[in-house]
Amino acid sequence: MVCRLKRSCLLALASLIAGSLAAGSAVAQQPIVLKFSHVVAPNTPKGKGAERFRELAERYTKGRVKVEVHPNSQLYKDKEELEALQLGAVQMLAPSLAKFAPLGVREFEVFDLPFIFPDRAALSRVVNGPIGQQLFSKLEAKGIIGLAYWDNGFKVMSANRPLKRPEDFSGLRMRIQHSRVLEVQMRALGAIPLAMAFSESHAALQAGVADGTENVPSNMYTQQMHEVQRHTTLSDHGYLGYAVIVNRKFWDALPGDLRQALRRAMTEATQYANSIAQEENEQALKAMEASGRTEFHRLSSEDRAAWLQALRPVHEDFASRINRALVEAIHRETGMAP
Ligand code: LMR
Repeated sequence: MVCRLKRSCLLALASLIAGSLAAGSAVAQQPIVLKFSHVVAPNTPKGKGAERFRELAERYTKGRVKVEVHPNSQLYKDKEELEALQLGAVQMLAPSLAKFAPLGVREFEVFDLPFIFPDRAALSRVVNGPIGQQLFSKLEAKGIIGLAYWDNGFKVMSANRPLKRPEDFSGLRMRIQHSRVLEVQMRALGAIPLAMAFSESHAALQAGVADGTENVPSNMYTQQMHEVQRHTTLSDHGYLGYAVIVNRKFWDALPGDLRQALRRAMTEATQYANSIAQEENEQALKAMEASGRTEFHRLSSEDRAAWLQALRPVHEDFASRINRALVEAIHRETGMAP
């Protein structure tokens, strides 16, 4: 009897162990889901970069990580996506550097200063050097890890009237990203800044709620903003780029080999995204011009000097709020104080 009892106990124990092992392996086989949310179209440099990351991440982790890319604000608009990241509702984002203010790291505002980077090479020296890394280290206390900087080039200005001289902006309601610097930039030009989510911009321009806007050509074109803006000035007056960021708890909890595989995927996706940005924007400009819906304007050197003069004070206004040493370090790195 005792022996039978012992035997049945052992059998029960064995089946319990087998059951939990099977359950364990079923759990182990479930891929880890990484939701990557963004606000632009899939056929933009950021959209394509995110897709490339998905392919590479799934390949290098051998399917142990499944990346779900949600473009076009499908899941969250600009402001909500940062909250969603911090709460862990999504794991990865690539917001424009203009949108980091809600995280309380003001230093990112430096990227919005008008004419801060003379060209892409200067930008690349800054983000890929110690300054870029220092900025990322400031995110960690906010529960965020910065993985990479993705470039999207320089912005154009558009409206239903030609914008050649600062006085042409007078009284125009200009849609901007939620950024204090961009607000002051528009005021310095005599315009009225209208901060709104990217996903609402086209409708606002179409309805005449906003008179004009600034953006990179690939965003203007893929949102058909050029169809509701009769004039576009190729001003290159400001920069638009992204930081790819990940929820820190999620990242730290990953097994080391998966983190390494994801880093490798991110490095390669970053090279890809940065290599196509310029070409994508040039193609978008060609397509906008060919559409005949918007007329292009180029700034003469006198016009450009007038923009610089109107916008120069924005640097001084923000230097102490952002971090004077950082602004000066960037001026030194780019060899240019506007
Ligand atoms: C915008 O809101 O205009 C841009 O930040 C959109 C983007 O992510 O490129």
